[in-house]
Parts: sequence; C-alpha cells; structure tokens
Amino acid sequence: MIKHETIEKNIGLMVLLIIIVISGGGLAEIVPLFFHSSTTQPIEGMRPYSALELEGRDIYIREGCHVCHTQMIRPFRAETERYGHYSTANEDVWEHPFLWGSKRTGPDLDRVGGRYSDDWHRAHLYNPRDVVPESKMPSYPWLFENRVSGADTAKKMEVMRRMGVPYTDEQIAEAADQVNGKYEIDALVTYLQALGKTHSEYTNKR
Ligand code: HEC
Repeated sequence: MIKHETIEKNIGLMVLLIIIVISGGGLAEIVPLFFHSSTTQPIEGMRPYSALELEGRDIYIREGCHVCHTQMIRPFRAETERYGHYSTANEDVWEHPFLWGSKRTGPDLDRVGGRYSDDWHRAHLYNPRDVVPESKMPSYPWLFENRVSGADTAKKMEVMRRMGVPYTDEQIAEAADQVNGKYEIDALVTYLQALGKTHSEYTNKR
C-alpha cells in the first residue's frame, strides 16, 4: 500500500496516477455516448437534406457563415426563450461535418428555418444593412450572380450515403436536375429555411 505522503513527494508518480484517474473518468463519461441511441440514432421522422439544401450547406461552409454563427442552442433559459428548443445530438447524426461553431458574432441559426421569409433572407444576404440597419454582417452580392453546378451533387450525396445518410438511388439520380441552373442564393436560402425543419419533433417558439 503506497502512503499518500509518498505520492505527494514523488511528482512522476503523482502525474501518472492523475492521468489514470482522469482517463478513467473520461472514458466512463465519453464511451457510453458512442452506444446510446439518443446520440447515434436520428431523431424521429428526420429527413436528409435535399440536393439543393445540401449545395446550400456547402455554400454556407465556403462563405464561412459558421465562423460567426453557431448551430447549437444550449439548454439554458436565455437561449431556449430566444431560439427555441435546445439542440440535441440526435438531430445532428447526419451532419458531416457538424456546424455547431464556437463563436457567436451573430445569432444562433439552428432553428432559423421558417423564422423569416425567403425575400427577407435574400435582401439580408444581398446587403444586411438594408433590413437590419445596425448589422455588421458582410454582404454576399456574388451569390446572386453565380449559378450552382450540379456536376458534383450526386457524388456528394453518395459520399454522405457512405457516411450513413439514407439517400435513395432515386434521390441521387435526380440530384443534378434539381440543382442545375439555380443561383447560389437559391441554394443557400433553401438550406437556411430547412434549419430546424427536417423533423417536427420540436416546434419553434418564435
Ligand atoms: C462577420 C460575422 C458574420 C458572418 C461571416 C455572417 N454573419 Fe450572419 N449575422 C451576423 C450578425 C452580427 C447578425 C445580426 C445582425 C443582422 O441580422 O444582420 C447576423 C444575422 C444573420 C441572420 C439573421 C438571424 C436571426 O435570427 O435574426 C441570418 C439568417 C444570417 N446572419 C445568415 C448568415 C449567412 C447565411 C452567412 C454566410 C453567407 C452569414 N450570416 C455570415 C454576423 C455574421
């Protein structure tokens, strides 16, 4: 039996024992999450993003929207009163990569779908100050000029399917047609309107 005094006087041994204790605690907390259905199974009634929404999501990533906006409502009253039901892990099992973000310069967007009209989003993305005079969000006028190429859409959906998103062969076959000719703004707004709306488990408060 090692005396406590021996541990206190031997920094190497103390470091080793601390590592063992923290690893044990960490494993006990983290490992079960890999097996719980609440973290590994999609929430009831969830649908994958459509081809156009998926392209919109890629534009969201390309433009760095996730650098200023989170998609992670925390379970605190101040957040749920403002944004709606807190985010749950089973809503994000098909998010590759997840876009939880880590900094809020602007508001959380996890349940922004349906909160504004398509026209509001278009005006806001063209020049945020036209609708929110004090906004410091950048303008994205090029989204109104660039068209989405459907050339890679089916491929992207196949990759998602390999990672567990249940796209059907039919959805993948129709992908290019759904997307071709659409402007980037159409794809992005369609994606924003889908946020929090791919299942109906939690209704938006606002
Ligand atoms: C430099 C930081 C920054 C970036 C980058 C940014 N935003 Fe914003 N966003 C803001 C701020 C600040 C607000 C709040 C003021 C406003 O409504 O314009 C906001 C507001 C919003 C809102 C309204 C949310 C609400 O609940 O009222 C939406 C939607 C939005 N942004 C979408 C986007 C999208 C899509 C992109 C990427 C194309 C983006 N933002 C990029 C800072 C940013």
